[in-house]
Amino acid sequence: MREKTLTSLSEVIFQDLSEGEKQEYHSFQKVMTSYILQAQEEERKRVSRELHDGVGQTIYSMIVGLNMIEQLPLSDDLREHFILVKEMATQALNEVRHIAVELRPCSLDDWGILPALRSFIKQFEQTYGIVTVLRATGEERRYSSKIETTLYRICQEAMINAAKYANIDQLSVEFYEQNQQLHLVVADQGRGFDLQNIEIKGTGLGLYGMRERATLIRGTLLIHSVPGHGTKIKVCIPLEDEVDNT
Ligand SMILES: Nc1ncnc2c1ncn2[C@@H]1O[C@H](COP(=O)(O)OP(=O)(O)O)[C@@H](O)[C@H]1O
Ligand SMILES: [Mg+2]
Repeated sequence: MREKTLTSLSEVIFQDLSEGEKQEYHSFQKVMTSYILQAQEEERKRVSRELHDGVGQTIYSMIVGLNMIEQLPLSDDLREHFILVKEMATQALNEVRHIAVELRPCSLDDWGILPALRSFIKQFEQTYGIVTVLRATGEERRYSSKIETTLYRICQEAMINAAKYANIDQLSVEFYEQNQQLHLVVADQGRGFDLQNIEIKGTGLGLYGMRERATLIRGTLLIHSVPGHGTKIKVCIPLEDEVDNT
């Protein structure tokens, strides 16, 4: 339904345009999408750091202060109340850190794609109870920020889709370089779905967004899914232009 509406809308927009104008429109759209995604990542980075360094540090200082007060002689009633307050402060700190990492983990900028994926997987396993095996072959190195962000976001979406829809307790993530291309494969052996007739259970923007992100850095995204036999999401990113670590 959504796709039909979008198709007819683009048909109306494009019907009076020449081939050249259509191409121009498409490249403009591509540049705009790239800017929007980059701006969104920058904003996430800013809010994430602010939460971590601002509110997070304040709550941390509160907990240190509470630890000092705990050493003082307190009545039983007061101590009971005190323990409750300290627990709430600790929970608030954990929540703030969790949100900051979800927005954009600083490990992605500071340490790169693999350390960021490892910590995402750790959190993912705790949240969903799905054992996730990451197989990374080759020498660990940095890629451009665009490549690392794209792969991280695609992997995140593919893993969360698997957790929400595949009904699985195991998941595999592969990461390797081959023929000047970087490959990421997220595979589950769960419910699967019919690619010709996708039953959209959420917003339906996830698969679309993954492909969009991959295309923007000249990559490709392959989705293989068979009902009853699982889903495989494969991303390939060309590495020829990778000359530095920016
Ligand atoms: N790993 C998966 N296993 C089973 N079904 C999936 C999987 N990934 C995606 N799907 C199906 O594809 C649909 C579209 O996914 P997506 O585009 O990410 O949108 P959303 O997650 O918002 O529903 C999902 O609603 C689900 O029905
Ligand atoms: Mg989704």
